[in-house]
Amino acid sequence: MEFQGQHILSIDQFDREAVENILRVAEQMAPYTSRQKRSTLLEGATLASLFFEPSTRTRISFASAFNLLGGKVMETVGIDISSLSKGESLFDTAQVVSGYADAVVMRHSEAFSVAEFAAGSRVPVLNGGDGANEHPTQALLDSYTIFSELKRLGKPASKLRVALVGDLKNGRTVHSLSRLLSLFPKMEFTFVAPNALTMPEKIMAICENAGHRISITQDFSSGLQNQDVVYMTRVQEERFDTQEEANLYRGKYRLTQPIYDQYCNPDTIIMHPLPRDSRPEANELSDDLNRNPNLAIFRQSDNGVKIRMALFALVLGVENKLAQYEAPVTWYSNKS
Ligand code: NCD
Repeated sequence: MEFQGQHILSIDQFDREAVENILRVAEQMAPYTSRQKRSTLLEGATLASLFFEPSTRTRISFASAFNLLGGKVMETVGIDISSLSKGESLFDTAQVVSGYADAVVMRHSEAFSVAEFAAGSRVPVLNGGDGANEHPTQALLDSYTIFSELKRLGKPASKLRVALVGDLKNGRTVHSLSRLLSLFPKMEFTFVAPNALTMPEKIMAICENAGHRISITQDFSSGLQNQDVVYMTRVQEERFDTQEEANLYRGKYRLTQPIYDQYCNPDTIIMHPLPRDSRPEANELSDDLNRNPNLAIFRQSDNGVKIRMALFALVLGVENKLAQYEAPVTWYSNKS
């Protein structure tokens, strides 16, 4: 796949080779994220960051990625302060914004809205999450994390067993991750969800048609057994008609250290796209796991910056110029 000038909207666009290419470029970003070196690769370039839905890490991680490559970021947060609230179409907004920027990242509450925006954009658009549909950069950082955790544990990356747990109907991260992992051989997916929140048929068909084994269960304890990865998710309460309806499911699946000890393998990797809902009535991923060495959630968020740097370098056609635009770091840093 040729990346230069492309939008990044869905995992649909990628084959396995394209994903491996992104992961390889992301690996090359480690000296910059660990502050061993700095980069001026994108000096003079501007990213427009349009987040029309709440976000902390995705928004900051895209901005941090662009900044670490030497570029500048313009931000708009919230529909109420943008011209979309005056009835402007996404197409028109895209025509305007893409005149001011070299790349755009956008998050929006409507499925396929980022693709609609991209149709009007003259510069590459990266999907930071479109409603319950997709979150492709999260899936890329999740797969980068899975492969690096397996390496850390000395386990092979073949025949991967992954349990996805929680609100699989509304969770865009699990939609994109299932699609992405389906590009790799011999996956075993276990979808653990209440009946009303099960993985959409369309996504399960993609996994099955790629030749993978899938199983569906409502039962948490059996779903946790014999897994390489357990990927917990938050009930996406903002996608329900009422809070009361969302509350029916919050707290249904809670991973704690005692539950991990009882049902998981000692080397099962624990993941979550974050934010975890730590309020007592939900608490899907308990704080008592914070000292578990296989809790990979903060390594996931760290890896997100490398993935987004790689995507910017690729869509702006400069992934082979990193070495020409690097300099030593002059300030104190003990990141590793
Ligand atoms: C997720 C999202 O917004 O889709 N978070 C993220 O981007 N890291 C998941 C969530 O909000 O539960």
